[in-house]
Amino acid sequence: AVIRAGSYTDELVRTAKTIASPGRGILAIDESNATCGKRLASIGLDNTESNRQAYRQLLLTTPGLGEYISGAILFEETLYQSTTYGKKFVECLNEQKIMPGIKVDKGLVPLPGSNNETWCQGLDGLASRCAEYYKQGARFAKWRTVVSIPCGPSALAVKEAAWGLARYAAIAQDNGLVPIVEPEILLDGDHAIERTLEVAENVWSEVFYYLAENNVLFEGILLKPSMVTPGAEHKEKASPEIIAKYTLTMLKRRVPPAVPGIMFLSGGQSEVEATLNLNAMNQSPNPWHVSFSYARALQNTVLKTWQGRPENAEAARKALLIRAKANSTAQLGQYSG
Ligand code: 13P
Repeated sequence: AVIRAGSYTDELVRTAKTIASPGRGILAIDESNATCGKRLASIGLDNTESNRQAYRQLLLTTPGLGEYISGAILFEETLYQSTTYGKKFVECLNEQKIMPGIKVDKGLVPLPGSNNETWCQGLDGLASRCAEYYKQGARFAKWRTVVSIPCGPSALAVKEAAWGLARYAAIAQDNGLVPIVEPEILLDGDHAIERTLEVAENVWSEVFYYLAENNVLFEGILLKPSMVTPGAEHKEKASPEIIAKYTLTMLKRRVPPAVPGIMFLSGGQSEVEATLNLNAMNQSPNPWHVSFSYARALQNTVLKTWQGRPENAEAARKALLIRAKANSTAQLGQYSG
């Protein structure tokens, strides 16, 4: 097989390995302005640039964060922002040995001809955007597309999701960014866990088919899968042990060991559930580093504690460190509640 990833091969492998290092995972704070606005509204704040900046500053300048966090995914606005005292956020991250990452997809739009499903935009102009983000200090990228079980998923939606991810991954690597490959299979639905397993196996087989067809360097990517769970409206909940068993079965069947890291999304699980499930997955050795790339499961308590008030900043940072440390411990399989 040809190994191709432009002139960045060695660097991509190094970056991916650094992000997937023992006891560390990713802090996802790449909410689009619209989504960030929803989070801010939940604590009564307006969706202004200065409120978004203040919230991200609180998170990114938390002392000691780098012990548990190896990468932070930013929205484009944040990549170019600085602290109120004039230090680039990218520099704050580099000082803590946290790699800066960037969300590069342009979001979901309806997919005509499908079963009310969506596809993910953003390939036009992606190469030049990636080159620019690299210059700004980003070293990895994220592209999130979505698959819905209650909507089918249709063969068309799965193929489009997989092809888009593969084109994006090749372009990101060509410009020095490690692509996080994220086909999020939504939790929505009343289906049993077996159905999620079946859909996830199908999605990941298509994704790897097209990644290979696009000559993507597997040693220089990271995955961001959903855990294999029953649908959110299913009559019974599954234990962390069952979720770990199904999820690892799926990954072992579909993901080559050349891939360095599996960084799960939390997808609406509670903070503690997300930690317990990750811990269960690390009870025996895996072929890859199995870790986290959580947004909501790292931020929910932080937001509630902060409330937009400077006097709550310290307590909010403590809340962030508590979740980050818990997930770090779970990455090592040593979390005990
Ligand atoms: P959650 O962990 O809140 O699911 O978000 C992760 C993410 O980046 C979704 O794309």
